[in-house]
Amino acid sequence: MTRFAYVNGRYETHSSATVSIEDRGYQFADGIYEVVAVWHGCAIDLVGHMDRLERSMNEVQFPSPPLRRALGIIAQEVVRLNRVRTGILYIQINRGTAPRNHPFPGEGVKCSVVMTARHGLGPSASDVDNGVSLKIQEDQRWKRRDIKTIGLLPNVLTKQAAKAAGAFEALLVDPDGTITESSAANVWLVDKDGTLVTRPLGPEILGGITRSRVMTIAQDTGRPVREAIFTLEDVFAAREVFLTGTTTFVLPVTNVDDTVIANGHPGEVACDLRDRYQAFLDSHDPRTSWHVA
Ligand code: PDD
Repeated sequence: MTRFAYVNGRYETHSSATVSIEDRGYQFADGIYEVVAVWHGCAIDLVGHMDRLERSMNEVQFPSPPLRRALGIIAQEVVRLNRVRTGILYIQINRGTAPRNHPFPGEGVKCSVVMTARHGLGPSASDVDNGVSLKIQEDQRWKRRDIKTIGLLPNVLTKQAAKAAGAFEALLVDPDGTITESSAANVWLVDKDGTLVTRPLGPEILGGITRSRVMTIAQDTGRPVREAIFTLEDVFAAREVFLTGTTTFVLPVTNVDDTVIANGHPGEVACDLRDRYQAFLDSHDPRTSWHVA
């Protein structure tokens, strides 16, 4: 089946879609992005993703960012053209194309916008059933991790190191010994009192849309949630550890390096939240899920 991409005002076949070699995203990683889950034809938490996209564009000072309504229409069209029922929508917006020079280009240079969509979403059944392992690594990213920048080299390197070690993800640790997140998901634990703990929002982590959704789901079901800084020691003493993210949903963690977490099986809280998150995905209505207001 032919795939399609949206590139700067045009829908093109995926294989022939191109951007300029002087696009600032290509030359400076001067761009931001979003990954949105598409589930049975519904966009999941699209409003949250659009809010974060606008926030990222604002934080990196794009002068005239594309309008949310237009982005919403293009997003739905890209998913429709690619006949994606369950998969991911990728949105990337760069500062634009101009001769290579570090400062922002002058007025009149428009942001470049690319959207693609592909089939397939979510962790494998065996990862969900058995839990995954994490590899501890130093967090080497910049100091504004709350911006969803396309400058992902540290994320790529830590994810690859995890993969090479046979682990699913990286567990990123700041120089002060505190856990930040993983290369593409937020990290949670359940402490010895049964309280869910995840790092507070701030420049140290990406404010995950799934993190926020799972927090609401947990609170709605009466589970205590605490946003607090935690360390490796806390991880090793935890009753449960799990990840949240657009592509991981709620994913139990059973090993961190060579240490087994609790009894080495996915925990009851993570499994319950995973099921509730699944129900949340199923609750979307294809007629309204694409509204971006
Ligand atoms: N990554 N932290 C980081 C560093 C991430 O890159 C992501 C998502 C998350 C989870 O955020 P959300 O729940 O909004 O997906 C946390 C996407 C999926 C990616 O880069 O592919």
